[in-house]
Amino acid sequence: MSLVLDHVSKVYGRGAIAVRAVQDMSFAMEAGEIVALLGSSGCGKTSTLRMVAGFESVTEGAITLAGRRIDTLEPASRGVAMAFEGYALYPPLTVAENIGFGLARRNGRDEVDRKVREIAELLEIGDILERRPSRLSGGQQQRASLARALAREADLYLLDEPMGQLEPQLRAILRGRVKALIKERHLTAVLVTHDQTEANAMADRIAVMEGGVLQQFGSPDALRDHPENLFVATFIGEPPMNVLTAERCGDGVALGGAAAVAFPGLALPPGRRVMLGIRPHRLRLGEGALAGTIVSNQWLGDQAHVVIAFADQLLVAVSHHKVAVRVEEKIAFGFAPEDAHFFDAATGAALRHGGEG
Ligand SMILES: Nc1ncnc2c1ncn2[C@@H]1O[C@H](COP(=O)(O)OP(=O)(O)OP(=O)(O)O)[C@@H](O)[C@H]1O
Ligand SMILES: [Mg+2]
Repeated sequence: MSLVLDHVSKVYGRGAIAVRAVQDMSFAMEAGEIVALLGSSGCGKTSTLRMVAGFESVTEGAITLAGRRIDTLEPASRGVAMAFEGYALYPPLTVAENIGFGLARRNGRDEVDRKVREIAELLEIGDILERRPSRLSGGQQQRASLARALAREADLYLLDEPMGQLEPQLRAILRGRVKALIKERHLTAVLVTHDQTEANAMADRIAVMEGGVLQQFGSPDALRDHPENLFVATFIGEPPMNVLTAERCGDGVALGGAAAVAFPGLALPPGRRVMLGIRPHRLRLGEGALAGTIVSNQWLGDQAHVVIAFADQLLVAVSHHKVAVRVEEKIAFGFAPEDAHFFDAATGAALRHGGEG
C-alpha cells in the first residue's frame, strides 16, 4: 500500500540531551514498490522505520498508509509487519512457532505449517524449524526474524538490515529470492541497509539519508547519473566519485589552476568556483588535455585502480584492462564533457550533470 511520510521528525530526549535523529523527512512510495533507506550508521534509518511501525512516537509530522493516517494508531492496528534489527525472536518458541506466530488466528494448522515451511525453505532455514532461538547462529536468527515478518499478512513490510549477518554468497542468493517474493505477491516494503549494492539490487527507489536528513529519493539510475548534491554523488558508487576544485574561465573551467577544460555552453558566471565530479571509470587514461603523475597502479583481478596525483589532489581511475604505467611516471588523461558533474563549491548542490544546460 502507498506510504507517505510528511515532514516527519524524531527527537529523543529533551533539552541539553536531546538527539535530533530524523529531521523533516518527506517521501511518498507507491503500492508494490520496494524502497531502501540507505545511509551510514546513526543516520536515522531505524528511527524512521520504528516511527512507521509505531514503536517510536513521531515528534513532528504525519505518516499515512493507503490513505489512512497511522502515526496516531497503536502498532497492532497499523497493518505493518517488521523484521527488527535485533531480531526480537520469542525465546521460548521454536523457529517454526516464531514464524507462524502471527498466522494462527486466521489460518488452520495445516495452512500455517505449509506457509511456515515455504518461507523457511526460501530462506534456507527449513532444517532448523524445531530449534529455539538460543541455539541458533546470528545469521539463522536473522533469517527466522525475516521469515516471521514475511509470513504475516500486512499492508506494509519493514525490514531493518534483514540480511546484514549473512555471508556474501548466501546474501546475494537470498536478496534475489526475497525481491522475487515481494514482487510476485505485490507487497510493499521498506528495506533498511547501509550496503549500497543491496539497495541497488533490491530497491525500486532509494532514500539516501545522512545526519537525520533525507539527501535524495530516487531510482538507482537517478542517484548515479543525477545526484542532487555532493554527498549523494560521493556516497553512491565504488570507488567514490573524484572531486576537483574548479573555476569558471574562458569557454570552460580551470582545474586547480593547472589546466583548462572546455565546456561549451556552461551557464556559470566567470570566476565562479565549483566542484567538478568525475566517476573513476569515466576517467580516460593515456589521452586528453590533462597530465598527472602515477601514485599507484593496482590490478585487482578483474580491474585496475590507478591513482594519479593532479593539482595537489589524488584522482582514482578504474580500467577493466591492465594499465601499463609505473609509479612516478607522467600520464595524460581526460574525460568526456558529458561525464562531468558540477556542484556549488559552498553548498554542494548540483548545478549541472554532463551535457545538459
Ligand atoms: N532510544 C534512543 N534514545 C536516544 N537516542 C537514540 C535512540 N535511538 C537512537 N538514537 C540516536 O538517534 C540517531 C539515529 O539512530 P538510528 O538507530 O535511527 O540510526 P541507524 O541509521 O539505524 O544506524 P545503524 O546503521 O547503526 O543501525 C543516533 O544518533 C542514535 O544514537
Ligand atoms: Mg539501525
